[in-house]
Amino acid sequence: MTVVDVVSADAGAAVAPAAAAAQPGNGQTVCVTGAAGYIASWLVKLLLEKGYTVKGTVRNPGMYTCCTDAHTTHIYDYDAKNAHLKALDGAAERLILCKADLLDYDAICRAVQGCHGVFHTASPVTDDPEQMVEPAVRGTEYVINAAAEAGTVRRVVFTSSIGAVTMDPSRGPNVVVDESCWSDLDFCKKTRNWYCVGKAVAEQAAWDAARQRGVDLVVVNPVLVVGPLLQPTVNASIAHILKYLDGSARTFANAVQAYVDVRDVADAHLRVFESPRASGRHLCAERVLHREDVVRILAKLFPEYPVPTKCSDEVNPRKRPYKFSNQKLRDLGLEFRPVSQSLYDTVKSLQEKGHLPVLGEQTTEAEEAPAAEVPQGGIAIRA
Ligand SMILES: NC(=O)c1ccc[n+]([C@@H]2O[C@H](COP(=O)([O-])OP(=O)(O)OC[C@H]3O[C@@H](n4cnc5c(N)ncnc54)[C@H](OP(=O)(O)O)[C@@H]3O)[C@@H](O)[C@H]2O)c1
Repeated sequence: MTVVDVVSADAGAAVAPAAAAAQPGNGQTVCVTGAAGYIASWLVKLLLEKGYTVKGTVRNPGMYTCCTDAHTTHIYDYDAKNAHLKALDGAAERLILCKADLLDYDAICRAVQGCHGVFHTASPVTDDPEQMVEPAVRGTEYVINAAAEAGTVRRVVFTSSIGAVTMDPSRGPNVVVDESCWSDLDFCKKTRNWYCVGKAVAEQAAWDAARQRGVDLVVVNPVLVVGPLLQPTVNASIAHILKYLDGSARTFANAVQAYVDVRDVADAHLRVFESPRASGRHLCAERVLHREDVVRILAKLFPEYPVPTKCSDEVNPRKRPYKFSNQKLRDLGLEFRPVSQSLYDTVKSLQEKGHLPVLGEQTTEAEEAPAAEVPQGGIAIRA
């Protein structure tokens, strides 16, 4: 059983300088907001492996009982939603879960207090404007302000999105999408793409607040994230894949999308935090695929599932992939996993976690994964 001392979490994070030097990794303390989420869970895992002490914020630490001894109130946490975090190597010694909603500034300040770095990954992931925009934007301003107030934070890493980058109908087909691109907010609003509105405005707010408060900010802009799950629930980007396997999608859309592996996204966050030469935005993408490419890869790897074979749009011309550059992250040493491997690992993980029944004869990763060729129609420009 893990004891989570939420009450004295701040004190637990304040590592004395002498002790810090003796600890594994950097011996530093960092805050990860929304720690139990899909991307954040992999980031917490990586940070613990590297020797960091992690203060992870969660909204619902769950059902707990309290017991008070002479000095402290210990809170015994039984929440299944966070159990995967507590099972990580190093969690017993170096993971502190702090209860914090993004709209609770005092709670955010408590979580950030005593930290050397902050990874702000928490965000609603929804197209409901009321649930999306305010928590994303105000929460991000709170995190930057809390980092400035703490006085110990060296750098803040903000998890933005491709949604803050590519939503621009005026972009020509030969333009290479890179960190200089910003989504057109009017277009996002007109098309009711409130997730992209929220992420773009939140990222702009992060840059403004960081400038005003003198905070060192770096940003990662992941595309659609796939790969194995650590958390027990299915998040939005994994649901995007699951629907092609469980029979809920009968057709695929005439659409293109860029994909990246969740382990590479976590790696990108750590690299931009640790590297003194990292600055600005970082497009985190492996490859652009048409949905038809995605379903073909899935059908080839897992023919036992009812993967759709028909496009829902038989009228319009096939959507063309856009070109992009992931050079900034590659310059920091990141080598992206191929998307076919990520899709294979996604499905195996969905099976292991009980979200997909295991059907038919199973093959091993070594036999199957390399057999799936990624169509070269989706060209990743390595410029
Ligand atoms: N997955 C992708 O394809 C993708 C792509 C680009 C960018 N991103 C960005 O990456 C980040 C993580 O996304 P994810 O895919 O890992 O999603 P996720 O699994 O849904 O995680 C989102 C996390 O944010 C927390 N959160 C939401 N609203 C909150 C609030 N008001 N206060 C405090 N915490 C709140 C959630 O906490 P609860 O557990 O309490 O709900 C959850 O831990 C987000 O910023 C997202 O925009 C994701």
